[in-house]
Amino acid sequence: MKALIAAIALATMLAGLTAARVGDYPSRPITIIVPFAAGGPSDVMARILANRMKSTLGQTVLVENVTGASGSIGVTRAVRSPPDGYTISFGHLGTHVANGAIFPLTFDLVTDLEPVSMLPSNPMIIVSKNDVPAKTLKELVVWVKENSGKVTVGTAGSGSGAHVAGVYFQNITGTKLQFVPYRGTGPALNDLMAGQIDLIIDQTSNSINQVRAGKIRAYAVTDSKRVPTAPEIPTVDEAGLPGFYMTLWSGLWVPKGTPRGAIAELNAAVVEALADPAVSERFAQLGLAVPPRSLQTPEALATFQKAEIEKWWPIIKAANIKAE
Ligand code: MLT
Repeated sequence: MKALIAAIALATMLAGLTAARVGDYPSRPITIIVPFAAGGPSDVMARILANRMKSTLGQTVLVENVTGASGSIGVTRAVRSPPDGYTISFGHLGTHVANGAIFPLTFDLVTDLEPVSMLPSNPMIIVSKNDVPAKTLKELVVWVKENSGKVTVGTAGSGSGAHVAGVYFQNITGTKLQFVPYRGTGPALNDLMAGQIDLIIDQTSNSINQVRAGKIRAYAVTDSKRVPTAPEIPTVDEAGLPGFYMTLWSGLWVPKGTPRGAIAELNAAVVEALADPAVSERFAQLGLAVPPRSLQTPEALATFQKAEIEKWWPIIKAANIKAE
């Protein structure tokens, strides 16, 4: 009798396990939709993460670049995907906050997406092509004022991180810039190195290696503290534009209705990736700061996104930024 009861208990447990395994997630490759061009800061971060997440999830994690409209086309594609845990939306302050105040989105950034985890963040960096006749930030502001309306600045479209930073720079310096939209700051950086455009207020992670290689010039990072792995680059406070702070944070979301179990698995894979010393060292070299463990939860991203919407929408609406 005892043996039978033990057998039933074992069978029930195995059945429970097998049931979980059958419905077990993930059982096929997962796709992260990056709404900006390949080779840019969002793409690079997503690919480093995807490569590490696959070992936790036991499935390939692919990165698909779906670009256009400052990232809103890629996010829309993710929102419209089946809520089965196999499509993830990569985004940031631009795509999952600013775009809601600029574009007539066909979905709600908060209620049509489920947060998975906060990702690393980085300050913006003010960079120019090498033959701009300014060596310091103060000289750069003078040069921009002397050439108001003629200085070309690369962005990833209206509302993108680089564009919001550019509008903020205009407001704080009383200058007029000529924005040149690209499908991401990856291609914008190529044109900056080629001297096709004058400036980018870029994510540090995108430009830092080209600054180190001497292919472009850096003036300051938009933070009160220097980037630990780029101590040679001053802060805006030190360089003469005090208080011009902007940090671009990123995150992962899934379509509304995605099973909680899948969200928990994805979150666990992100947490493990961010805790991996090899991954965090790569991020540190790019000037990216990994969020504290307490912020690596779906709930923390939900709270943070709402707070950023409350902060940035009035600023963006007051700046009268229009969808291009
Ligand atoms: C990119 O990956 O191109 C950037 O995230 C675009 C941006 O600055 O918003």
